[in-house]
Amino acid sequence: MHQNKEIEKTFKFSGKDQEMVKYSLNRFSVAPMLDWTDRHCRYFHRLLSQQTLLYTEMVTTGAIIHGKGDYLAYSEEEHPIALQLGGSDPQALAHCAKIAQERGYDEINLNVGCPSDRVQNGRFGACLMGEAELVADCVKAMQDVVNVPVTVKTRIGIDEQDSYQFLCDFIDTVVQRSDCNIFTIHARKAWLSGLSPKENREIPPLDYPRVYQLKKDFPQLMIAINGGVKSLEEAKQHLQHVDGIMMGREAYQNPSILAQVDHELFDASIPVVDTIAVVRALYPYIEQELSKGTYLGHITRHILGIFQGIPGARQWRRHLSENAHKSGADISVVEQALAMVTERM
Ligand SMILES: Cc1cc2nc3c(=O)[nH]c(=O)nc-3n(C[C@H](O)[C@H](O)[C@H](O)COP(=O)(O)O)c2cc1C
Repeated sequence: MHQNKEIEKTFKFSGKDQEMVKYSLNRFSVAPMLDWTDRHCRYFHRLLSQQTLLYTEMVTTGAIIHGKGDYLAYSEEEHPIALQLGGSDPQALAHCAKIAQERGYDEINLNVGCPSDRVQNGRFGACLMGEAELVADCVKAMQDVVNVPVTVKTRIGIDEQDSYQFLCDFIDTVVQRSDCNIFTIHARKAWLSGLSPKENREIPPLDYPRVYQLKKDFPQLMIAINGGVKSLEEAKQHLQHVDGIMMGREAYQNPSILAQVDHELFDASIPVVDTIAVVRALYPYIEQELSKGTYLGHITRHILGIFQGIPGARQWRRHLSENAHKSGADISVVEQALAMVTERM
């Protein structure tokens, strides 16, 4: 039988105190989100939570192998960080996984959930749910060349293939043919045609009990649940049934939630993080990036929602939105916006 790989890892953070932080691999993570969870976003999220596992946006094997840019760039501070790969050619995936491990990624995740046409044309993403053996071959090919965990993010079904038995057969095939034992399940199916990716995140109904049942039927697997989780209270409820929570849109749009994750979900002795201090802690990073030619707006777009629900939040958001994209915009734009929040405290 397949044994659980060690899921508790100890990571060395490159912060001031070089503190060793212990974390359970998939207890809480921020979802991979194309165009959202880029390296600036992840750097910011890491300031809010040391324990959360951060996923990259999906990076295709084609981009890594043939692309001109460095699609694997990240800052050391972002650990623990998982790279999500998009692809379905075992050799190409293995090649990319190897590079990713060399670059220091802590986990490699295969995307079996994205329903976009572009992805389907490349025969990867959610349509791979219909090709369990190929998914297993992909996972195995990667496992053969890396030591870090290789994990799968998938849906509960596709199109008419949406029975619980279909989901179980998919998981069982992947598990039997590879050593994969960590799955993240987006608790809704995907329609491969007729719905946009956005609609596919909203229209198919969420079915949490199905994911709970999966954990019961495959108790040896680490199962993280994803989809529609909006608070840490909800996260705690889910954790009574599954091993982990992956939060997507809520964490991005309302990132102050991440300031409570370490305290609420990992260790009550860790204080809740002060969001104003986090914005200030981002200044050195912003300065460094500006000096490399990054536009201020490319960083500040990820921090617009940090003060949601606090007096001054609207002014903060508006000031950044209106000024951060201007040429020559620098840290003073952020300081001015921050003052609109702090002066109301
Ligand atoms: C803007 C955006 C981009 C996304 N890109 C990806 C992606 O690259 N890979 C992936 O597996 N899922 C992607 N997703 C789906 C999320 O990872 C997640 O499964 C989905 O949003 C449901 O979780 P939530 O309800 O907590 O947001 C994306 C979602 C959004 C909103």
